[in-house]
Amino acid sequence: MRKNQTSMTAIVRGIESEKSENERICYDPYARQFVSRFLYGLVSFFNDLGFSERKGPGVMGFLTVRERHIDEFLKAQIQTGVEQVVILGAGLDARAYRFDELKQLRVFEVDHPASQHSKIEKVRKVLGQFPAHVTYVAVDFNTQTLEQRLLESGYDESRKTLFIWQGVTQYLTPEAVDSTLAFIADHSPAGSSVIFDYMYPTLLDGTIKRGEVSNMRSRRWASGESLVFGIPEGTMTGFLEQRGFTDIQDADCKFLHDTYFHGTNSSRTVAYGYAIASAKVGS
Ligand SMILES: C[S@@+](CC[C@H](N)C(=O)[O-])C[C@H]1O[C@@H](n2cnc3c(N)ncnc32)[C@H](O)[C@@H]1O
Repeated sequence: MRKNQTSMTAIVRGIESEKSENERICYDPYARQFVSRFLYGLVSFFNDLGFSERKGPGVMGFLTVRERHIDEFLKAQIQTGVEQVVILGAGLDARAYRFDELKQLRVFEVDHPASQHSKIEKVRKVLGQFPAHVTYVAVDFNTQTLEQRLLESGYDESRKTLFIWQGVTQYLTPEAVDSTLAFIADHSPAGSSVIFDYMYPTLLDGTIKRGEVSNMRSRRWASGESLVFGIPEGTMTGFLEQRGFTDIQDADCKFLHDTYFHGTNSSRTVAYGYAIASAKVGS
């Protein structure tokens, strides 16, 4: 993990957000402001030439519907009275700033210290001040437990909580994934929820060859993030049930495509091998 690392996922959100209201799938007005102008311009340029789609077909599609799907889940949780939101591996996630409803709640942005340092600088620059409802908690999931850091940062384990874990699990050890899920199951009341995306191991181990995966591997020296963790297709329900969760939904590429890509977007694709799971903490 390096300082000043710019999030490719934020660039994808920025590119989608520039489309008209009728066409775009997700909207994050902060994304473009949070990333370097140079890199944003470069990625947009190559994207317009079709380079991203050739290298990793359906990945831009996945990143776009992922943002939307998690936004929809967040809206549903707000409707049902969520009291606290924890954004794990927050990176340049701007939900704490773009959802007005979250300004009435407490939001914890948890991230690796190096990424968080650069996010805090960007928030200071773009917003001009720190939002009072957000608490920044620096944690390395691979070496520290949430228990250590979140509880001492004011997280209230009696409050109904939503945990958002977007774009992170593939970089963690299985032990880190387990201990994070155990924290959620043990330290939030029944009815709390978690949503996270994950990759199938067949992508990670090269059984299925994909350009963006080999790119991520070769950029490892720059991002400091290795692709480590995956969950096999069709096993998510059992995986989460064993860890104390209920109401499990597993949104695969077909579900995500059929749910979000209609009309002018119907020819867009969602890459196979990426999926989004959501679940509730059982009683
Ligand atoms: C691809 S970015 C996703 C950022 C953001 N959630 C999004 O979707 O735009 C991966 C995030 O995972 C975090 N991350 C990766 N490994 C981590 C670790 N060991 N401990 C804490 N955070 C980690 C990084 O700091 C980064 O913010």
